[in-house]
Amino acid sequence: MKNIDSISHLRGESVYLDDIPTIDGTLYAAVFDSPIAHGKITKLDISAAEKSEGVVRIFTHKDIKGENQIGGIIPDEVLLAEEIVDFCGMPIVLIIAETDELAKAACRKVICEFSPLEIITDPRIAQQKGKLIIPPRTFQTGNVDDAWKDCAYIFEGRADSNGQEHLYIETQGAYAVPLENGAIKIYSSTQGPTAVQRTGARVLGIPMHQIEIDVTRLGGGFGGKEDQATTWALMCALATQHLRKPVKYALDRMEDMRMTGKRHPYSSDYKIGLSKDLKILAYEATLYQNAGACADLSPAVMERSLFHSTNSYFVPNAKCTAYSCKTNLVPNTAFRGFGGPQGMFVIECAIAKAAETLGIPAAEIQKKNLLCDGDEFLYGQKAESEANECWNKAEEIFELEKMYTDAEDFNQKNTLYKKGVAVMPICFGISFTKTIMNQARALVHIYTDGSVGVSTGAVEMGQGVNTKMLQVACIVFSLAPERIRIHSTNTFRIANTSPSAASATADLNGKATYMACEALLERLKLVAAEELLADPASIKIINEKIYIGDKETDMTWNQLVWFAYMKRVSLSEHAHYATPEINFDPKKEKGHPFAYHVYGTSVFSVTIDCLRGTYTIDSVKAVHDVGKSINFFVDRGQCEGGIVQGIGWMTMEEIVFDKEGKLRSNALSTYKVPDIYSVPKELDIHFHESDRKNLAVLNSKAVGEPPLMYGIGAYFALRNAVRAFNPDVQIPFDAPMTPEKVLMALYSKEKTADKKHGAATLAAAQLKPK
Ligand code: MTE
Ligand code: HPA
Ligand code: MOS
Repeated sequence: MKNIDSISHLRGESVYLDDIPTIDGTLYAAVFDSPIAHGKITKLDISAAEKSEGVVRIFTHKDIKGENQIGGIIPDEVLLAEEIVDFCGMPIVLIIAETDELAKAACRKVICEFSPLEIITDPRIAQQKGKLIIPPRTFQTGNVDDAWKDCAYIFEGRADSNGQEHLYIETQGAYAVPLENGAIKIYSSTQGPTAVQRTGARVLGIPMHQIEIDVTRLGGGFGGKEDQATTWALMCALATQHLRKPVKYALDRMEDMRMTGKRHPYSSDYKIGLSKDLKILAYEATLYQNAGACADLSPAVMERSLFHSTNSYFVPNAKCTAYSCKTNLVPNTAFRGFGGPQGMFVIECAIAKAAETLGIPAAEIQKKNLLCDGDEFLYGQKAESEANECWNKAEEIFELEKMYTDAEDFNQKNTLYKKGVAVMPICFGISFTKTIMNQARALVHIYTDGSVGVSTGAVEMGQGVNTKMLQVACIVFSLAPERIRIHSTNTFRIANTSPSAASATADLNGKATYMACEALLERLKLVAAEELLADPASIKIINEKIYIGDKETDMTWNQLVWFAYMKRVSLSEHAHYATPEINFDPKKEKGHPFAYHVYGTSVFSVTIDCLRGTYTIDSVKAVHDVGKSINFFVDRGQCEGGIVQGIGWMTMEEIVFDKEGKLRSNALSTYKVPDIYSVPKELDIHFHESDRKNLAVLNSKAVGEPPLMYGIGAYFALRNAVRAFNPDVQIPFDAPMTPEKVLMALYSKEKTADKKHGAATLAAAQLKPK
């Protein structure tokens, strides 16, 4: 089935926040945000702004009736600044005016003076000064300290990965409308309707049942609206609470880039030890996460970095420690992969360092260490691995050997262009790492005309979850898609939702939908059996026809529904699903946190222009583990989109903060995201299907985030191409690999370790074959 939104998207008829018809008298919000990264507010004068044309009211933290607190995991984040600002872009004053432009114009008339405080932007410096969001955490297995002595080769070094702007096409925004008796309805571009409702209740000082959140769809979220949509919804709600007027705020692109968090940059140290036959015997890593000024989701993101720190490899002795470091940057947040990519990048750097020094392709080390069934991850869960299957298929279908020799031939013949090949296996755990979040609900109504309405806690953000929910209901009821409608996500219909995140939305909400539909179907079968004087177990409903055994009867779906209604049988069902079998003990850092894992192997081939440093990604080929895909088009789309987004993170998207903590890459003119020309010339995705039972909805494994991590392969393919031109060059592991960095590396004379820039160190010195 095609994505059910495809036609309305194509026609431009799909409704996003900014398309909701506004009510007469709607007011518009804008925020005056901190121009400095850290300081004490010494003077705040809003008198000129108040007199500005069209201004209705200006709010500060003093106008908050509940608590000025929006921190989800840790209560460390205010909605509007009080005495201190701790990042550029921190909201200080909320201005409400008759139009968007007038609200923005008034912002420029706010006078705010500060006495500056020390600005920290580097996570390692924050860690040295003890500025941590939470105490450090360590995941470990075996005994690394003992294992080093058994290693034939040991390599260590540093790896840095930068942040990433979400760049959802629809910017953050909300529209709040007053309801009677002090209630408020908020249309919010959020992945987490309940987060908005819960935090709204806290800030406004009213019960959750007074706040209705409604979401039709998002023009992309990518994690950026899991937690950080709340701010903008509550800005509107705060004004609506006071003024009893509808209030709208849709951020412009520069406001969004300046005031919202991004993927976390990480700076890490690694040490890897291999046996003579290239088995990884020991791996140690220290991760410094740049959290920004408040916790937001950083502790959970950091946890997932640890979970994924050994990627798809079995490492018998591993010890990984992570620090969530508090800096004066905008609070960083969820982004597709949720810390997993950052953790995986480090071990890939360690393997690349080993391969480069030993003069072999990294793939030799990667392949030798893939997880097998029953191998334990460093957090104790046993793998049900498809890693070798995916790798072997990729090797065979894509003729990996030939890709290497073709690249070598090309490189022999060409001096100004060089090719690089790299393989990137992935392994990603499906489930929220916080066990309690793995629950979902669905509400299904069959109307008396036989049509069906489904509500779930799932938010559609382009990932096709509504299409999958529709498929589940169609399969259970055996109805055509036209007979079923997936309604908006609404906190008055579905309560206590987890955000649509962790790639688990289709699994969690799909299972709940399945359960609700099944319960209704069983009920309808009883009615049919009664009407037809048959055994309920013999009743089948296929394509709106009722069967006794294999014999078709005269009864139709519509008639059956009507009979049920006449018999006063309920035609509505609400179901609740909670993932079984999962658990995690944070005291021991051990457990079985994931319902299952998604595996895959991608192969990258790139060509660099050795005069200019520019490059093309010639091909990305992948064998991707889908279980049993229920929607080829949606799943393929997720693979393609994820890969391109991952390539963007690893190659061209370069977030730049200056020493003052000001975002310099604050517009689309200074921040480059992949466009149609950056899409690999060849994108070949094979699905690896298997009959093995899993906890995915209809055995169709989650697909939202894992493919992003294939993108890491682009980084290593580029590196290999550079080394074909400038052999033995020491390139620091510092993503993204922008054309500038490629050019510098092509002509770099650095052939020895460079500690300062984080080049892998001591490789030669520690090379000690046993
Ligand atoms: N695909 C599109 N088109 N738009 C998005 O915002 N978000 C990604 C991924 N794919 C996203 C997307 C992220 S971060 C997650 S967690 C999953 O989709 C969420 O949806 P799922 O749980 O239904 O896979
Ligand atoms: N993934 C995505 N979002 C989350 C998670 C997770 O594991 N935990 C909390 N929010
Ligand atoms: Mo996705 S980062 O879990 O919203």
